[in-house]
Amino acid sequence: MQELGHVPILLNDWGFSFCLCNPLSTVNCITILIFVTMEQLLNQIKELKEKIITNVENDAEAFRIKYLGTKGFVKAIMGEMKNVATENKKEAGQRLNEFKLFVEEKYEQLKLSSGNNSPLTTHHSQDLTLPADDLPLGSRHPISLVKNKIISIFQRLGFAVAEGPEVEDDFHNFTALNLPENHPARDMQDTFYIAQNPDWLLRTHTSSVQVREMQKAGMKNGQGKLPIRIICPGRVYRNETISARAHCFFHQVEGLYIAENVSFADLKQTLYFFVQEMFGKDVKVRFRPSYFPFTEPSAEMDISCLICGGEGCSVCKKTGWVEILGCGMVHPNVLDNCGIDSNKYNGFAFGMGIERIAMLKYQIKDLRLFSENDVRFLKQFTGAV
Ligand code: DAH
Repeated sequence: MQELGHVPILLNDWGFSFCLCNPLSTVNCITILIFVTMEQLLNQIKELKEKIITNVENDAEAFRIKYLGTKGFVKAIMGEMKNVATENKKEAGQRLNEFKLFVEEKYEQLKLSSGNNSPLTTHHSQDLTLPADDLPLGSRHPISLVKNKIISIFQRLGFAVAEGPEVEDDFHNFTALNLPENHPARDMQDTFYIAQNPDWLLRTHTSSVQVREMQKAGMKNGQGKLPIRIICPGRVYRNETISARAHCFFHQVEGLYIAENVSFADLKQTLYFFVQEMFGKDVKVRFRPSYFPFTEPSAEMDISCLICGGEGCSVCKKTGWVEILGCGMVHPNVLDNCGIDSNKYNGFAFGMGIERIAMLKYQIKDLRLFSENDVRFLKQFTGAV
């Protein structure tokens, strides 16, 4: 037996081909004609085992390449089987398998002791008792912050949160809200249709949730379900060209109060309270007459511009006022469509875009920032409430 580098070479004169490559040098490949006796094979296994036992190598990956790699000792010695005489093959196979298991076990031990589980890393040791790296903490999205704030303000006034599906049918999104088929006001709320005849669409506002809640109350003929005092937060969709001021999806909070003898003064006072809680006591409000098919009378509410304090700037287009929501007294047709007696009950409703409130509150100029997931933008809300 002769040794070349790390590779033991078996030599005899019987004329079989045998190739052992030094696993640490892919170049150094020697072909020698040999014939393997059982004794030679066992000797070779013994020598290799001794080498492994006295091994000073503690780099698991280097060990793996040297012994278990495609050009390693184990593969090479396994290749000897073909040179073993037939009557010895069974025993040789068992010995070779034992040897392979022995090497694999040694490799597992090395991996554990060097803490090196990945063949790609070359760390020699790691202190597993060290504390782990900090995980970076996220923060709440500004839309969630503002939504939660709006909810908590209205909850203090006794409003409960109601939610509904984002995929709606035509009745709940339009028809029940006094927007029958072919009504021109539908043009202002074009959306994405999922199916047609019957129509299924992505809701254009959370007023559809108001309809669902009124229907529940209507079915029971008001029993135990009236008055209704709810706010409906959620995502809504419109077929809009995306720009700094518009998007094909955004978020709303709508509100509904249905009882007996509700007045426009109740509506004004509720919204005035909301604005003061949201933006501070100095903010002024004004109501402008407007039109929505589902309310009569209808109004839009403006607040004094937070940027210039009413002086006039680019945000308020030099008017000193910014529009924040639509509102009005619920149209009797809507109540009737939902099965509520409009001779007995009435109420008010309002709806606002959360993005718009957030833009005003945090002075954000581009609506697209809310959905781009840019960490530099989102990080600025760490600690915001
Ligand atoms: N649904 C309206 C929209 O999305 C907003 C709105 C206006 C809701 C007046 C209301 C309301 O409940 O009374 O543009």
